[in-house]
Amino acid sequence: MNLVNEFIKYKWQAKGRHGIHSPFVYDFIENVLQTTFEGQELNVISSYTHFLKKCHDEIEFQELGAGSKLLSNKRRVSSMYSLSSSRGKFGKLLYALVSHYSPKQIVEFGSSLGVGTLHLALSNPLAKIQSIEGCSNTHAFTVKSFPKKLSNVEFINSTFEEFCQQKSESPIDLLFIDGHHDGKYLLTYLDQLNPRITENTIVVLDDIRWSSSMLETWNKLVADKKYHVSIDLFRMGILLKKPDQVKQHFILRY
Ligand SMILES: C[S@@+](CC[C@H](N)C(=O)[O-])C[C@H]1O[C@@H](n2cnc3c(N)ncnc32)[C@H](O)[C@@H]1O
Repeated sequence: MNLVNEFIKYKWQAKGRHGIHSPFVYDFIENVLQTTFEGQELNVISSYTHFLKKCHDEIEFQELGAGSKLLSNKRRVSSMYSLSSSRGKFGKLLYALVSHYSPKQIVEFGSSLGVGTLHLALSNPLAKIQSIEGCSNTHAFTVKSFPKKLSNVEFINSTFEEFCQQKSESPIDLLFIDGHHDGKYLLTYLDQLNPRITENTIVVLDDIRWSSSMLETWNKLVADKKYHVSIDLFRMGILLKKPDQVKQHFILRY
């Protein structure tokens, strides 16, 4: 996969809200992609990310997924923050998704330092978030460092595989998969969690162009009849089951 070609293709095809006829996607552009956030929550995010940026602690990393292209196994927190966190506009996207759709039950695959988790948790204190991390040293660091007053987050030290095998059938309202980065595994996780993915679930996939296998899987998911709406934001992809809508794929400017 050539990322530069992919980016040029995306830029060429990506649309803004004009010419979008799906009311759901039009609303998504207006109230999620184009929204800005301000206030108290921003201070909490800035102070946590400032701490991570300056933190020179090293974490002995246990690799469970496809591995990092840039980081070795002894990882400095500041490098993990800059290379593998949902910061900037993608953190904002997570925040806006929660604030606009009010999902009650959120599952995040890959807590890492909890940057994505923090955006999800601050957006709606009533949402219950389970954030799964397989590397026990990263999990321990995040549990120790994450802003304490956010009691709506449960950090779970488990592999994604173990989590998927749990017998739970309770619906997940927002599923954020941000780890492992191997297309075959991604398909398996989605298949195993399928009974918990309902018409109200928003599935957010990070790094859909991280590798050829991720992109291949993304294209399969876009074609999969189970998902009626798919949204390509270049780095992230969003899937929804909306059986009352004609199946449609959207490439949106972000
Ligand atoms: C890109 S980071 C997550 C970033 C975070 N979601 C954020 O928004 O800031 C991916 C994390 O997934 C974890 N991971 C990868 N494969 C895993 C697996 N099979 N089981 C559990 N954790 C895994 C890694 O240890 C890593 O910490």
